[in-house]
This record gives sequence, structure tokens and C-alpha cells, in this order.
Amino acid sequence: MDLDLKAKSVVVTGGGSNIGRAIVLAYAEEGANITIADIDAEQAGKVAELARKRGAADVQVVKTDVTNLEQVTAMFAAAKSKFGAVDVLVNNVGWDKLMYFTQTTPDLWQKIIQINYVGVLNCTKAALDVMIEQNSGAIVSISSDASRQGEPREAVYGGVKAAINSFMKTIAKENGRYGIRCNIVCPGVTVPENGDEVGGTSMWSNPDSMFTREQLDKVAKTLPLKKIGRPEDIAGAVVFLSSGAARYITGQVLSVSGGYSMIG
Ligand SMILES: NC(=O)c1ccc[n+]([C@@H]2O[C@H](COP(=O)([O-])OP(=O)(O)OC[C@H]3O[C@@H](n4cnc5c(N)ncnc54)[C@H](O)[C@@H]3O)[C@@H](O)[C@H]2O)c1
Repeated sequence: MDLDLKAKSVVVTGGGSNIGRAIVLAYAEEGANITIADIDAEQAGKVAELARKRGAADVQVVKTDVTNLEQVTAMFAAAKSKFGAVDVLVNNVGWDKLMYFTQTTPDLWQKIIQINYVGVLNCTKAALDVMIEQNSGAIVSISSDASRQGEPREAVYGGVKAAINSFMKTIAKENGRYGIRCNIVCPGVTVPENGDEVGGTSMWSNPDSMFTREQLDKVAKTLPLKKIGRPEDIAGAVVFLSSGAARYITGQVLSVSGGYSMIG
């Protein structure tokens, strides 16, 4: 099936590590023109090199902090100027520090809200400015099954991810008339396998601070598919939702989590 992504202009935020990296490589295999927007330009540069080898039409890295609207606007201008359009935005940046809510502080809440929510608002605003004018576009935001299930040690993050689900549905309703589709992918636990897959700014740069191997084995046993997610498991769903094959799908929340959540 032709996914109609060849030479399309795709922006992936946080494309340097883990899930974002796999998303970039999946678009590369479809022959897309890719802009990687990441605060870690060095790690993103390594992914760009690999993406070129995997078949990307072209790749640029634009060092961007998604919490800064000025930087985000400049990044979209760079994508439009180099590739002539912005056909797809993947809001992938996210961050959390796992701890029980009673142990958290207002500073931590603000950081989680800024990176996970304000980052999505900034990028979606800048993308819509381009997409409305071109009368087409697809946005996929990476949320989390924590937004649907409630997850111990992820109270603020889970709440913010639920806000992303709701925000994206509204954006889908407001902008369908411009041919713009918006969907949400909710990963479950999704781990890198080796150091090449993450840079120093990744949540997984010290994997044991997230989950020990023992904890991961326990989680795997509870999942219907009996294995922990890999970044490429998420990338396939993202590419599909942004592609021509999903042309009549908008405002949907899709869990990609080995069956961890099953919502009717
Ligand atoms: N990995 C999981 O288990 C899991 C589970 C559920 C949801 N998610 C979500 O999936 C997405 C990707 O997660 P991941 O595990 O690949 O994350 P990661 O921490 O491995 O990678 C995040 C990337 O975003 C970049 N980044 C961080 N802050 C940034 C900022 N302010 N501006 C620009 N770039 C920034 C980092 O440099 C890094 O390259 C996130 O939205 C996350 O919340 C992940």
C-alpha cells in the first residue's frame, strides 16, 4: 500500500531519542523530507545521518526547545523554507520523573506541564498557521496510556497527557474543515535496547531511574502480548495515522501498548 508520504515534509519533535528516533527512521523508510526538532542537536544529528541511509529524501536538524514559542516558530519557518510545506507534525517530546504525587513539588509540576503540554500547544499553533494556509495536514501527538489508566508515580504527567488527548480532539474538530487531521497515540512502557538509541537528554539515559530490569519483566508478564514495547512498535502506528491510509480518521486516541489498556 502506498502511504503517500514520499517527499512529504514531516516535523518530528524530540526525534533524537527512543520513540522519536524510531519515528524519524520510519518516515525515512517512506522517503519523506524530515525536520528533526530537538534540544539535543548532537544526538539528533546522528539520527539524521542514519535516516539518510534508510531512504529519507532529505533531513535537517533544527535545535529547538519546544517550550519556547519563538524557537518553535523559527523551526517551522525552516521546515517550510527547506521543504516548501509542513504536511505532518509529530508532537513527540515528553518528559517525566517517576515519583509518588506526595513526593513531588510545584517546580516539578511546572516542568512537566511546560515540556509535555505547553510544548504541544506551541508546536500545534505554529503547525496550524502553515497547515491552514495550505489547506491540508496531519498532526499526531504522543500521549501515554497513563492518560487513560491512571498510573502510580505518574500523577501530574498522566493528567497532562489526558489534557493532550482532549486538546487534540478539539483541534481535530476545529480544523477538519481545512483538511487537517489530528490523532493521538498512547504508548505503554517502551524501552530502548542500547545506548545508540538515546542521547544524554533522554529520560532513558539512565534506564534504572525509570524501571529496573526486574520491574520490566514483571510488567511484561501482565501484558496480553507478554512483552515490553520497543520504539519501532510505536512508530508504525504514528506513520499510519499521518498517512493517506488514514485519510478518514481524525480525533482518535490509539493505545499502542501490548494490550495494556483496552478502551471501547
Ligand atoms: N518510553 C515510554 O515508556 C513512554 C510511555 C508512554 C508515553 N511516552 C511518550 O512518548 C514520547 C517519547 O518518549 P521517549 O521515551 O522516546 O522519550 P526520551 O526521553 O527518550 O526522548 C525525548 C526526546 O525529546 C527531546 N526533548 C526533551 N525536552 C525537549 C524540549 N523541551 N524541546 C525539544 N526536545 C526536547 C530529548 O532531547 C529527547 O531526544 C514522550 O511524549 C513520552 O511522554 C513514552
